This record gives sequence, C-alpha cells and structure tokens, in this order.
Amino acid sequence: MIKKRYYITTPIYYINDVPHIGHAYTTIAADIMARYKRIGGYDVFFLTGTDEHGQKVEQAASKQGIAPQELADRMVYGFIDLWKKLNISNTGFIRTTEERHKKVVQYIFKKVFEKGDIYLGEYEDWYCVPCESYFTEFQLVDGKCPDCLRQPERLKEESYFFRLSGYTEKLLEYIESHKDFIMPEIRYNEVISFVRGGLRDLSVSRTSFQWGIKVPMNDKHVVYVWFDALTNYLTGIGYLEDDEHFQAFWPCDMHLIGKDILRFHGVYWPCFLMSMGIEPPRHIFAHGWWTIEGQKMSKSLGNVIDPNEVVNTYGVDEFRFFLFREVPFGLDGDFSKNAIVGRINGDLANDFGNLVSRAVTMVNKFQKGKIERPEKKNGIDENFETAIRRFVDEYKKSMDTFSYYKALQNAFDIISIMNKYIDSEAPWRLNKEKDKRLSTVMFNLWNGLRISALLFYPFMPVKSQKIWEAIGIKRPIEKALLEGEEDFYYTEDISEITKISPIFPRIEG
Ligand code: ME8
Repeated sequence: MIKKRYYITTPIYYINDVPHIGHAYTTIAADIMARYKRIGGYDVFFLTGTDEHGQKVEQAASKQGIAPQELADRMVYGFIDLWKKLNISNTGFIRTTEERHKKVVQYIFKKVFEKGDIYLGEYEDWYCVPCESYFTEFQLVDGKCPDCLRQPERLKEESYFFRLSGYTEKLLEYIESHKDFIMPEIRYNEVISFVRGGLRDLSVSRTSFQWGIKVPMNDKHVVYVWFDALTNYLTGIGYLEDDEHFQAFWPCDMHLIGKDILRFHGVYWPCFLMSMGIEPPRHIFAHGWWTIEGQKMSKSLGNVIDPNEVVNTYGVDEFRFFLFREVPFGLDGDFSKNAIVGRINGDLANDFGNLVSRAVTMVNKFQKGKIERPEKKNGIDENFETAIRRFVDEYKKSMDTFSYYKALQNAFDIISIMNKYIDSEAPWRLNKEKDKRLSTVMFNLWNGLRISALLFYPFMPVKSQKIWEAIGIKRPIEKALLEGEEDFYYTEDISEITKISPIFPRIEG
C-alpha cells in the first residue's frame, strides 16, 4: 500500500537579519501540522530554509564590509539553531545559494523563455527596495509603498518580463474552481479581487544589483529574487535531481505563509508553474500578523522579540502553545508578557498540569501505579468514552482545516470532562470502600490522559512525551497513531505509572 504523503513548506526567510517571533510563528505552525500528519500515518516532507539573494542582502553585507555569501553563511545559523531550539521537525532545509537550486532556477527561466512567456523589455516604475517590488503611481499610498509605507525610488532598467497578463483568465478559473486553494476565506477574496483587476506583466530580472542567480542567456541580468525564491519549493524536494521523490510529493499540500507575501504565492507562483506545465500547489494558508504589546514590531521601535529569549524565560512548549492558544490561526495577534504568563498559569499549570498530577497521584496511591483494562463499564463510563471520542473527532476536523485554536479548545474540553469525571466518581471514596469499580475509573483517567497528551503533542511535543513516559507508555509519542487500523481508544499497552513532578510549573509574573 502506498503511504499517504504530505508536503508542507514555510517561506524561506531573508538572512539579512536575525529571526524574530514572526519567523518562529510560521515555522512552529508548519511543525504542528507536520507532527499532526505523522501521527495520522502520513509520510511528511517538511521544508524550510533561507532566502539569500537580492538587493537587501547585498546592501546589508556591504554595510558590514563583507561579501553577501559570507553574510549568508554566518546568518543562516541564526535560523538553523533556532529551529533546533524550537524542536522543529523539518525534513529539508534549503538555501537559495546552493548549487542544486541555481541549476533549477536557470533551467526554469530558460524553459519559460523558450516557451515565449519571458521576453526582454524595459521597465520603469516606482520601486520599493525593502519589499523588492515595483508599484504603479496608482498603487502607491500617499506616494509611499503600499506594503511598508516607505519612500519608493523611481527606477528604469532593461528587464526580462514574465507574461503574467496572459494568465489572468487561467488563474481565475483555477482559483474559482478550487475554493480552498487560498485559506482562510478572507485571503481568498483578496486574491480573487486582485486578479479580477487584471494582471500586468511582471519584471523578473534586475540589472541594478549583482547578488543573485544569473539569467542563463544574459549575464548582465540576475533573476528577480521572488522568481528565485518561490522555486525553492521545487528544488527542496528534488526537482531535476530525484524525479521519483519529486513526483511523490508534488503538488505541494500546503504553503504556509504570512499575509504579507500572499500575492507572490497566490498569484505569481501558480502562474509560473502553469507556464512550466507543473500543477499549482493544493493549498496556501496566509496567517495573521503579530504586534508586540500593542505596537507594530520594528527595529526602529526596538521592540523586536527574539524567540530565543522567550524560550529561555518561559520554556519551548509553553511558547509554542501560547502562540496558537492566544489567537485563532489566521487572525492578527498581540504578544505581551502578561498574556503569556496568564496562559501558562491558567491553561497549563492550573488546568492541564493539575489534572495530570491529580490523576497520576491517585493511580500511585490507590493502585500502586498499576492500570488494568476494565471488564465492566457502566453508563457513566460509556458517556465518558463517547464524549472523548466526540472531542477527538472534533479535534481532527479542526486540525484538518488549520483551526489550531479550536483544536486546542477540543483538547481542553477533554480535560474538563476528566475533571468532572473525577468529581462525580470520587476515586478516594471508591478506594475507601474497597469498591472494584476503582480500577475502571483509574483506567479511564489513565486513558484520558494518554489521549489528551496525544492531542497536545503537535503543539507541545516535549511535555507530551514526558506525560507518556510518566503514565508508562513505552512507544515514543511521535510514533503513536491517532488514526489507523486499530481503534485509537484502546491502542497502547498498559504498564506501570511512575511519579511525576509538576509538568507546568507556575510562573511568577
Ligand atoms: O518574505 N507576524 O522573508 P521574510 C507574523 N524571503 N509573521 C511574521 C511577522 C509578524 N510580525 N513578520 C514576519 C520573505 N513574519 C521572503 C519569503 S518565500 C518563497 C520567500 C513571517 O524573512 C511570515 O511568515 O521577510 C512572513 O510571511 C515571513 O515571516 C516573511 O519572512
């Protein structure tokens, strides 16, 4: 049987600066889906990487008096090290300065040129250097760049153009017949109205700077950084190098991006692919934007958040959890110390953590750590099981639509059912009365803990593993299966529970 496959990507990040909380957000979001898909039985390819060409990098390097490649070689570790620290489980990492990538970009550029979709012309318009984009007079907002509100420059250069205008109808047809191509819906509508406005040909080469991949038939030009960058999604899974691997994973299931780069992914990228005769990706999800303590994050305000520091202060799983518990995925959110401390003390220490220590303590105290599969169930146990099964179903539906916020709520619904079950079944009373029912109740609590750890696992892999170990499950949690031939409710072998120290210590705010 062919294993189900899933291919997910993050944007490749610019290496002209160190990573911040926004980069961490997208990468963790992709990691959550990759882990969720793995426990759903998928063979996952998860690609991330760095975008190392372009004028911004050239300028940042020259400011430091070094070559752009040297800057890239140094800065890339800021990302590689952070992904390790955040337990990112990517299976691929791509740098656009790698030989394998240059080959792909040049090959594609030439192919599209030969097909007649790239032609040489002259370009003049307003150019925003930080955004690497041209804008028409009409698109500017009070004379400023509509994306970053900085002053654009008037630029004229000989340039190769991609015949984007020729794809307006084809792209519209594709988007309209694939309603979930761009998610969430608000982003879908944004792209549709942009395309309906008509597409203009796109300049895809530059002569005004040098740091890039040379245009194969004219080395005065370097390839436009977005043409170069988007192509990473092909190189990363072996395009031109390993056709079998490439065919197995393309079309990409999900390009996860921030809303800032939607046009590049939702408009230009599918058109480039159509021109190459390659199927467009299946889905693009554009998430919202983080502000910091109510303000836009910016270097000049000095409020850029270093994810390394957040992890050092609050812990890695706590940070991962916070980002997706605080704000529905897709909307904008605000990062503040109060908010993260509140979530840790409330949701994690009080609700989840307390339940874990309560249940584990009772099994140790009343049954010397032993759990047995119950022979008898009464109506209350059956209701308990039905409710858990229902919330697991809901959780899966939420995860499958990238509704992380709802999925976490579904997991917390299980925590609250378990707390109610403890209150109604009062295991301490059953113990005192030497009632045989105690072992059934203990099994249900054990099982509820096991299942909630599994549901939290994509968000908090380390803590969930810790809980699994404490409740005596030998198989590593990342190898657990939430879906498969066996019924997830009764899968794991039961062994002895060990003692557990508080999983989520409280933080003094
Ligand atoms: O755009 N909140 O790279 P980049 C949430 N190299 N997410 C944020 C954010 C914020 N305040 N700031 C940034 C590039 N992001 C190109 C991509 S892909 C072929 C090329 C995240 O380093 C978000 O995912 O500027 C956004 O899309 C990405 O960082 C931009 O990273």
